[in-house]
Amino acid sequence: MKLMVVGGGGREHALIKKLRENPRVTEIYALPGNGGISYDATCVPIAATDLDGITQFAQSHEIDFAVVAPDDPLVLGAVDRLAEVGIPAFGPRANAAIIEGSKVFSKNLMKKYHIPTAEYEVFTDPMAAEDYIEAKNRFPVVIKADGLALGKGVLIAQTMEEAREALHTIMTDKIFGKSGNSVVVEEFLTGPEVSVLAFTDGETMIPMVSSMDHKRAMDGDQGLNTGGMGTIAPNPYYTPEIARECMETIFLPTMKAMNAEGRTFRGCLYFGLMLTPNGPKVIEYNCRFGDPETQVVLPLLKSDLLTIMEATAEGRLKEVPVEFSDENACCVVLASGGYPTKYEKGLPISGLTDGNVPGALVYHAGTALKDGQLVTSGGRVLGVTATAPSLPQAIDAAYAAAKQITFPAMQMRHDIGQRALKALKSDQGV
Ligand code: AMP
Ligand code: GLY
Repeated sequence: MKLMVVGGGGREHALIKKLRENPRVTEIYALPGNGGISYDATCVPIAATDLDGITQFAQSHEIDFAVVAPDDPLVLGAVDRLAEVGIPAFGPRANAAIIEGSKVFSKNLMKKYHIPTAEYEVFTDPMAAEDYIEAKNRFPVVIKADGLALGKGVLIAQTMEEAREALHTIMTDKIFGKSGNSVVVEEFLTGPEVSVLAFTDGETMIPMVSSMDHKRAMDGDQGLNTGGMGTIAPNPYYTPEIARECMETIFLPTMKAMNAEGRTFRGCLYFGLMLTPNGPKVIEYNCRFGDPETQVVLPLLKSDLLTIMEATAEGRLKEVPVEFSDENACCVVLASGGYPTKYEKGLPISGLTDGNVPGALVYHAGTALKDGQLVTSGGRVLGVTATAPSLPQAIDAAYAAAKQITFPAMQMRHDIGQRALKALKSDQGV
């Protein structure tokens, strides 16, 4: 089978490594992939958002199955376009990807179908939004741009002044472009965050092992929000009891709501949850695998990924086994100095042999090959994942492997998994 994976980050590398385990797979093309991914797939310089390029490539190379991983091509309709030319693909159609593509859509969906989420109002006029926040006078308040914003469209204002500034940035300065034509103003929730990715074909919903992202740049959850500096799985806050509650009050109702709207979701649906004192609530939906959640979830998947993806795309997910190991995984992200703001690219990476180190899985997020030498090419450069029977062992193994790798001005967090360990200890009464 010839596969095509659209995207070029650490998540796509994790998908490719897992898909390769199936002996039916003879070739994987990554569009565009990256330097490190080229050890595992044939990289083709076509951008993930170039739907014409993607469709033409898939046709001319007789691709048997495609996986569209990032949010933007999904929201733009990459899966629809591939279907038009008869190429089966894993991922939601555009009419379902809107669950991530528009926060106004997803908030209204949750309200209509009584799915627990933060209270909110939608505004297209910055003055009206300002009046509402002033009248409510409850801080912090959360202000979200409606559309895709590279994961940066959420601003948390501690004061009225900050709220005004946030509204101005999103709606008047339009730093996220058209994404800021509408905003969601919502209540600030508190509690541990959990990421749950789930396979669904609109009939069956199979949550994967839970995980915990670490979004801030610095140790102790300080610094700016990033795309994610590390992850662990499973997430100890997500107990079997909470999992049952989420299935009943969030996961299945979301699947059914999308069906009822004529927007059946087939693919990986990502639930960003907050376990609030009033129960689990949805912070956000994503229409795709999370990054870097995928880098800890897929290493724990025991079943064959390609088989699951084909069954999901064909609407027969209930027929295939989806099993996870009961081990733990930890992924530490090695980032460029200065990320998430300004950073240098093209710096040589040392410590890797053919893109790998012993004792871990190395997922390439932002690397390029220059004259046979791996160099940095993005903010997040590598994700180093280890699996082990216990969380402390997985954390130690991931950091031991990460230590073998260096590049100038390398930046990482040193406390990935520490919050989860505290939760485990307090659970055991320590
Ligand atoms: P998002 O881009 O939607 O994932 O939001 C980024 C981060 O903002 C989330 O991971 C949360 O930590 C935080 N956040 C978003 N919405 C809320 C909310 N209603 N209350 C508290 N924190 C929030
Ligand atoms: N790790 C969060 C995301 O993929 O959006």
